[in-house]
Amino acid sequence: MKGIILAGGTGSRLYPLTKVTNKHLLPVYDKPMIYYPLQTFIDAGIDDIMIVSGKGHAGHFLELLGSGAEFGVRLTYEIQDEAGGIAQALALAGDFADDDNVTVILGDNIFQDSVKDAMQLFETGAHIFLKKVLDAGRFGVAEVDEGSRQVLSIEEKPDVPKSDYAVTGLYVYDSSVFEIIQTLKPSGRGELEITDVNNEYIRQGSMKYSVVDGHWSDAGTFDSLLRAGLMVQNKVNNTM
Ligand code: DAU
Repeated sequence: MKGIILAGGTGSRLYPLTKVTNKHLLPVYDKPMIYYPLQTFIDAGIDDIMIVSGKGHAGHFLELLGSGAEFGVRLTYEIQDEAGGIAQALALAGDFADDDNVTVILGDNIFQDSVKDAMQLFETGAHIFLKKVLDAGRFGVAEVDEGSRQVLSIEEKPDVPKSDYAVTGLYVYDSSVFEIIQTLKPSGRGELEITDVNNEYIRQGSMKYSVVDGHWSDAGTFDSLLRAGLMVQNKVNNTM
């Protein structure tokens, strides 16, 4: 299993914090943001990792993380020239994946618990990790059948969420993910959407899910960045 950390995008929702640095280098309590997804991989035993970053400040990732030896992992770097969406960033890791299964994590997602077990049980298709939240409309929202444990659909930032289940930014895919991305068309906001990738796996009947027990937060807005810091400091959580 290879790991891919997606740290592209513009960080525009955090402007001016992101005027002279990359969102994923901002502090979340006592560490740079990207340390947390990296630690999630390390805890899951994933040690062959690609970081996809935007052009701006790409050298700072190298300065911060180097070869990965300090963390006991091997790091490879790739550049996403324009912020064309999460799925477009993932496509850049196709050669790195080299027909292996991949675990993908968004560089602004912070998980308290290890997700090692679900990753190790993975065989084929795709697996997503859901979390009950109070503000589901901010995320991809999954409609699930809890009886059959099937994901029925995912909607990206719906006005009227069909459930409280946010789709977290952690995904396990087999190598067909790269063929699926080739078939995608840009969404209304001009991006190749990871939600469209996931809906294709649902259509094929090969999407599984689990629910994250521990705290989880993204950190891409002022409020969520603050909440992530407090979550790490162990004071609050946004779960139900
Ligand atoms: O945090 C979980 C949510 O992340 C999911 O529930 C949504 O389904 C998913 O679309 C995503 O939503 P966001 O609106 O939070 O995505 P955002 O544009 O903030 O991008 C999140 C990370 O993805 C970002 O920190 C780096 C990476 N990314 C994003 C874009 C747009 C890239 O690497 N390249 C990109 O072009």
